Amino acid sequence: MTDQKLTGIRACVFDAYGTLFDYASAAAQCRDVLGDRITALTTLWRDKQLQYTWLRTMQDRYADFWQVTGDSLDYSLETMGIADPALRERLMRLYLTLDPFPEVPAVLRQLKDAGLKTAILSNGSPDMLRPLVASAGIGDLLDAVLSVHEVGVFKTHPKVYQLAVDRLGVPASAISFQSSNAWDAYAASAFGMRVVWCNRYGQKRERLPGEPAAEVRTLAELPALLGL
Ligand code: LAC
Repeated sequence: MTDQKLTGIRACVFDAYGTLFDYASAAAQCRDVLGDRITALTTLWRDKQLQYTWLRTMQDRYADFWQVTGDSLDYSLETMGIADPALRERLMRLYLTLDPFPEVPAVLRQLKDAGLKTAILSNGSPDMLRPLVASAGIGDLLDAVLSVHEVGVFKTHPKVYQLAVDRLGVPASAISFQSSNAWDAYAASAFGMRVVWCNRYGQKRERLPGEPAAEVRTLAELPALLGL
């Protein structure tokens, strides 16, 4: 990783879950029921959710992210011995209004003010991303909210990253892609985007094709990397 300034960038594209929005905030708001099981549920739910996206893509059996999120939650609750339909509904509802990370609105504003295009590129279905963006109040700071639903495969299929190129009309080499998911970051880099790995969770580097151009801890570091 070189961590030099990114030049020639015309569009900033963001992953949603874990990057702009804190997926841990759903279980965290159910502390009254979950108690000290918040972290265990969050981790298992997220891991299983991602595994299902990869497996479904390999099998060419796409189902939208709402179903995958519900299926993985059902698996996780059963694994943890929690039989509570009301909690299940509450967690799914909370997934539509996850907290944005605190720096997100100001960073998006700064990028837009500098004349850059901004977009989300996410596994989330349009019906999930719409309320998420609305509840965070960042709709007018985004030029596009792009969902894998349009191409019928999940990340890391190259069709997903191509969707951003096609819809924004900006070549991959002029797109800065931000993800906290290392596997997503590496794949976007292998595809040809410039990648800023927002390593919020202090993960180790992946042993996969691609290499992020820079690594940051929060998105607050992004504008400076772009020379703003
Ligand atoms: C997304 C998941 C991978 O938003 O975080 O695409």
